[in-house]
Parts: sequence; structure tokens; C-alpha cells
Amino acid sequence: MPKLKLPKPPIPDALNPRPKRPGDPTHGAKPLDVAKDTGISAADWVDERLALTQPARWVMFRKIPRGTNWFYTLGSATMFAFLSQAVTGVFLAMYYEPDPSRAYESASRITNEVFLGEFVRGMHKWGSTVMIILIFLHMGRTFFFGAYKYPRELNWIIGVVLVVLTLMMGLTGYLLPFDQRSFWATVVAVNLNASGPIVGPYLADFLRVGSEFGPTTISRFYSLHMLAVPGLIAALIGAHLYLVAKLGTTAPPWLKAEKKDLLREEV
Ligand code: HEM
Repeated sequence: MPKLKLPKPPIPDALNPRPKRPGDPTHGAKPLDVAKDTGISAADWVDERLALTQPARWVMFRKIPRGTNWFYTLGSATMFAFLSQAVTGVFLAMYYEPDPSRAYESASRITNEVFLGEFVRGMHKWGSTVMIILIFLHMGRTFFFGAYKYPRELNWIIGVVLVVLTLMMGLTGYLLPFDQRSFWATVVAVNLNASGPIVGPYLADFLRVGSEFGPTTISRFYSLHMLAVPGLIAALIGAHLYLVAKLGTTAPPWLKAEKKDLLREEV
């Protein structure tokens, strides 16, 4: 029987690159250059749809005063400490169990059994101290450089709320390992809160979920520690940085205007 020769199916256009012609942007370009441009084209594609270049430029390309120095990095350092706490906290939450009968064991399991658990728990624990030290140093910098004055008062006020919230992270996190020290230290701290004027007793009841420490106290602390307070901190950092970008940075106090007369109004 004669062998039947079937016609070859046509190659679809998409798989058939058209010949390069002069004027084509990739004509004559080396493959490596074309590959390099691919990233730029991809970014262009995204930007055409989201139009994020303008806001990104607004945030990143700002004029900063002469004499800006290392003290100005303390705000960003605080932000990175917060981000590190957020990342390590997510990993700890994968193994931690906020239940009075399981909390201590789950925390010990993180330290003794989970891969890199001791390292991540250590980073989270020491990171909290680092963040508190950095936030106070940053506060000191803005205070001594007079950055709290007009028009940055609102940023100072947001900062004060951020300090309170950061300290609250420390308080609510301290109970979570649920060992003797963390339990009794939190009892003392909540009793101190209870002695505050007017709102004190209500605040203490809210934290304990009642007039005594009970089985649900730990879940209240946990939800404040990993959802409510960090959520608020993240939102306020956003507002804080928006104001920094909008108002610009204060010049160091020792920087004097070159021509003093230019600052005076002529009469
Ligand atoms: C989570 C905490 C905080 C973060 C992440 C943060 C972040 C920043 C960053 C990145 C800057 C710009 C760079 C710099 O000047 O360091 C800044 C500026 C500023 N921050 Fe904070 N900050 C925090 C807490 C605070 C606190 C506690 C205060 C004061 C009570 C404060 C008051 C200010 C002021 C007034 C400025 C403007 C500085 C200027 O114009 O020179 N911030 N912050």
C-alpha cells in the first residue's frame, strides 16, 4: 500500500517570529540587551495601568536640607525594626497557641524543636527592645532639632501615639510566653494600669477580660498584640511618612541662613 503523506499543520503566527526589519526596536539588538529591556518594558506595562511613577517620585525624590546627618536615619531605623518584628512575628504565630494550657508548651517548642525557632524568637525578643530604644532616640532627635515646631506639630502628635502603641506591644507581648515571670509581671503591670485615674479600672478590666486573669485573658492579649496594635502602628507610620514627604525634613539647628537679611521682610 502506498505510504500516505499527511500535510504538515501550519505553525501558528504566535510561534513564528516575524523577520526583524529596520525600525523595529529590537532590530540588530543583542539578545542580552533585549533581555535587559524586558524588565523595563514590564515595569512600563504595569505603570501604564497603575500610574504609580508620579507618587513614587513624590515620595522618593525630595529636596533635603544641607547638613543632614546620621541622626536623620533613626526614623527609618525604627521603621525597619518594626518591619523585622512583623516578619518574625508572622513566623512565630505559625507555631504559637494562645491558650492557657498550651501557650507555655508551644513557646518552648518553638525554642527547642522548630527549625530556626530559637533564632526567630530571639530576633523578636531582642528586636522589641531595639525598637523601643530606636523610637526614643528618634524622638530625642526630633525634639533637640526642633522638628516638632510649626508646621510639624501633627507629626509629633502622631509620634507620641506611636510611642504609646509601641510600649503597648511590649506589654501585650510579655504575657505570651506564659511562664512564671511573664505571668506575674503582667499581673503587676495590669494592676498599675488599674490604679490610673478614671479610665484605669476600666482599662484593666478590658485587658483581663474581667476583674481577674482568666482563661480568655491570653487571647485578648494575643489579638491586641498581633492584630489591633500592629495594624494601628502600620496605619500611623503611613500617615507619619506622608507628612514627612509632604512637609520635608527640618534643617539641623546649627545651620544658619546664608543671607540673614533675605529672611526679613522689607519695610
Ligand atoms: C514607629 C515609630 C516611628 C517611625 C517608624 C518613624 C519614622 C520616621 C521617619 C522615617 C522620619 C523621616 C526621617 C527622620 O527624620 O528620621 C520621621 C520624621 C519625624 N518623626 Fe518619626 N517615626 C516614629 C516615631 C516618632 C516619634 C515617637 C516621634 C515623636 C514623638 C516622631 C516625630 C517625628 C517628627 C517630628 C519627624 C519630622 C522630622 C523632621 O522634619 O526633621 N516620630 N519619622
